[in-house]
Amino acid sequence: MTKAMEILNSLTLEEKASLTSGKDCWRTVDIDGKLASIMMSDGPHGLRKEENGGAVPATCFPSSATIANSWDEDLIYKIGEALGEECLANDVQVILGPGVNIKRSPLCGRNFEYFSEDPLLATKMASGHIRGVQSKGVGACIKHFAANNQETDRFSVNAIIDERTLREIYLSSFEEAVKEAKPWMIMSAYNKLNGDYCSENKYLLTDVLRDDWGYEGVVVSDWGAANEPVDGVKAGLDIRMPGPVPSANAAIVEAVKFGELSMEELNKNVLRIIELVEKGIASKVADYEADMTAHNELAVKAAEESAVLLKNNNNVLPLDKSDKIALIGAFAEQVRYQGGGSSCVNATEVSNLLQALDDKNITYTYAKGFKTEDDLIDDNLVSEAVTAAEKSDIIVMCMGLPFRMESEGFDRWTMSLPINQIELFNKLSELGKPMVVVLFQGSPVEMEWSKNADSILAMYTGGQAVAKACVNLLFGGANPCGKLSETWGLKLENNPTALSFPEKGTASYVEGVYVGYRYYDKKKLDVMYPFGYGLSYTTFEYSDLKISATDISECDTLEVSFKVKNTGDIAGKEIAELYVEPTYPSVSRPVRELKGFKKISLEPGEEKTVTMTLDKRGFAYYDVETHDWQVDTTVYKIHVGASSRNLPLVGSIKVNSSRTNKAFFTTDSRVYELNANPVSKETLNKLLTEDLKLDISALSIDLPLSKLVGFSGGKLSVDMLDRFVSELNERIK
Ligand code: GLC
Repeated sequence: MTKAMEILNSLTLEEKASLTSGKDCWRTVDIDGKLASIMMSDGPHGLRKEENGGAVPATCFPSSATIANSWDEDLIYKIGEALGEECLANDVQVILGPGVNIKRSPLCGRNFEYFSEDPLLATKMASGHIRGVQSKGVGACIKHFAANNQETDRFSVNAIIDERTLREIYLSSFEEAVKEAKPWMIMSAYNKLNGDYCSENKYLLTDVLRDDWGYEGVVVSDWGAANEPVDGVKAGLDIRMPGPVPSANAAIVEAVKFGELSMEELNKNVLRIIELVEKGIASKVADYEADMTAHNELAVKAAEESAVLLKNNNNVLPLDKSDKIALIGAFAEQVRYQGGGSSCVNATEVSNLLQALDDKNITYTYAKGFKTEDDLIDDNLVSEAVTAAEKSDIIVMCMGLPFRMESEGFDRWTMSLPINQIELFNKLSELGKPMVVVLFQGSPVEMEWSKNADSILAMYTGGQAVAKACVNLLFGGANPCGKLSETWGLKLENNPTALSFPEKGTASYVEGVYVGYRYYDKKKLDVMYPFGYGLSYTTFEYSDLKISATDISECDTLEVSFKVKNTGDIAGKEIAELYVEPTYPSVSRPVRELKGFKKISLEPGEEKTVTMTLDKRGFAYYDVETHDWQVDTTVYKIHVGASSRNLPLVGSIKVNSSRTNKAFFTTDSRVYELNANPVSKETLNKLLTEDLKLDISALSIDLPLSKLVGFSGGKLSVDMLDRFVSELNERIK
């Protein structure tokens, strides 16, 4: 018997029930002499351990939206390690992150805290984060499970999502991370999913999470997201936070006493809680000291690797220290490095661009240009900025989304930057000087104003060291290599959710699987910057695509290799992307979907061979008839390249599905189902034309068999059809 089982057996019913809600805002209940308490704290990109009305100092790393642009699982693993170390140093046993909700609309206020519009990229980055944190004996808590894709009405909105969309998009961003990285905890979301609150949703917390994905950890509610206690226990919710909630504990005790809830059901949840606590306690390290200097250096590197060079006409970047620079924009001084809400970190050190430039003895003239507190144009600030720019050779304008425009708790109301920034940009661009724009934002903005910018560098919400990283990148100390983890549409109106997002009460995900690039590609819509896009100070060339077979079964794995060459004169990193396109799908599917990616470093002139492997899920869609992943027998194109819309290499592969051919059809009330084995067209034709002597030339293969009676000119009766199906099943067993 395990120690956890012994502890479980020592507990009274009341003690067991008490464990199903928190002790206070951040800790689990301790039971004298039997079970200690562990502490959990936010947040995804830095420890936010509340103390004395504030939060302990901690390293503020780039937010998830930012680090996702690095497409670098090793890098985020390292950040996870650092988060784990800072948890050990602050006696915290679980850190509440990563957030992996899909970016359904660019307006979601918490998009800065989420990875991507694509579930594969999101789940891979989440996996690296979780593995890194847990390598230190600290737990991670993937969140918010599931479909928490808006802040408006988040405590009660009912997300209505069809099963296929749910599986392929909104659960997929959790799936591999849960299966592979095994987070100690999963946080159930505030919202409802298809009618049931996530914290009491058996389909989510048991059918999918435990029965399908085999998850053995603890489900914790989001803070205040739990509702009816007994329903929660039955559905698979283990701990409701925050605590204590005596009324909920009492309801559970009553339910067991009156037989509404069995002790076995309660024991399952309580055992998981005990195992979690035991794990947390066992990993404690007394007097642990984290290397905060090293963590800050890691934060610099992470911000450098996550920045995305969106434009660099005439190679205006990198700058030279001797350039006469006008540094314009309040974000140079009030640098924007994180979003608002529970993820907010009390950063150990935050430098701004002025300090970062001073540290490198780079001269510049600074002018604020605009205020961030509101959108009002300040003529004095504008004229100061124009004057500074007139005396310079090159303008570096720092723009972005003010802190007040992106946060947990509300959604953005626009995709535009504040008018006081755009107006200033227009004024400065009239001077006809080289213009570099640096963006500090947690999600995409409309860029129709930017055509006069020579270079654009998106730093996103790059964490406490974003300014240092930005200066390194601007002056060539580092070479930008980030690629967008989300599409930047030309305008909000082009987004499939634009007419309705955010809905109150019920949010109908009518766009289905067509989220982000899946939508824009399907509709063949132009975009400002595509998913997976990003430039470098060097150039890369793709060649020599090789595919390990021309014809495989769905159970086989396929190896894809290709070469990437650095054709420029400085070292750089390239993120190579692989997309799969079904040529003749049996259901409506995105044109192509990301199914692999790899980041490689290349010296000038260096060429490397990259290899990726595809398995069944590389070709599959989620089939709602069989409630499982299925592969169509058809040819698939394999695209490889630098972004979702720059795919110079293409190959093809025929995949033969072992899919059960189920021809369901009804005659009267009877349902005929062909046997489990695939029915070849030849077999079917022989039986119909030779044995039953039916002229089926005019019939299309997907005709339900029951229709044959009507097409047979009286030759085929329902009884004959009965015999025919029985005979068919006999022959193809
Ligand atoms: C918040 C957030 C969640 C956070 C929790 C604790 O409401 O939704 O992400 O971890 O509560 O602060």
